[in-house]
Amino acid sequence: LFIFLNELSWLRGMGSDPTGCIISVMNMQKTFLAIKPKAMQRGDAVDIVKVLEKSLGAECVAMKTYTPSKELAEKHYEALNDKPFFGELIESFTSGPILGMVWQGENVVAKAREVMGATNPADAAEGTIRKLFAKSIGDNAIHGSDTEPGSAQREVEIHFPASDFTPIADPVAEAQKLTQAAAA
Ligand code: RTP
Ligand code: MG
Repeated sequence: LFIFLNELSWLRGMGSDPTGCIISVMNMQKTFLAIKPKAMQRGDAVDIVKVLEKSLGAECVAMKTYTPSKELAEKHYEALNDKPFFGELIESFTSGPILGMVWQGENVVAKAREVMGATNPADAAEGTIRKLFAKSIGDNAIHGSDTEPGSAQREVEIHFPASDFTPIADPVAEAQKLTQAAAA
């Protein structure tokens, strides 16, 4: 495999470092995921993290709870600021603590979108997080970066500036600990 990958090193951006080369071929990515305030209030955060851990095939490398400020929320959803539901969206996203996470793995941005399911839970496939935990399009349990190039990296930088991303051994236990502390 290593020899094969080195043969491919004429492809742009790989360089001669074998680790960098393998990571490029494997399409390692980070994505920003967040349990939204209403799902947090229903006490669904830990169960949602269980689904992510089971289905995503990726590592959680950062996790924290915080209530997004209006400024942060408006920056986060900047691309939607001309939509009629923008005001509601910002109000909802800032209404209480979220569980913000960065997950890292091969093709994790698209995989997370699959595991999340469609924006409107009425259209979400069986077994997806939104099918299981969302109540409506405006109360759809989870946010995940979209697959537009640069989108995930932008959101990771907005929510986790200057973070060193280290794999969390037991994300479910970490979510349990953080959500209990946020509720206390
Ligand atoms: P998100 O960004 O929250 O992960 O959701 P998404 O990519 O699946 O959907 P997006 O188009 O980015 O919309 C962001 C959030 O806005 C709310 N929305 N409401 N009333 C409506 O027609 C409507 N459309 C979107 C949803 O809560 C959606 O998650
Ligand atoms: Mg979106």
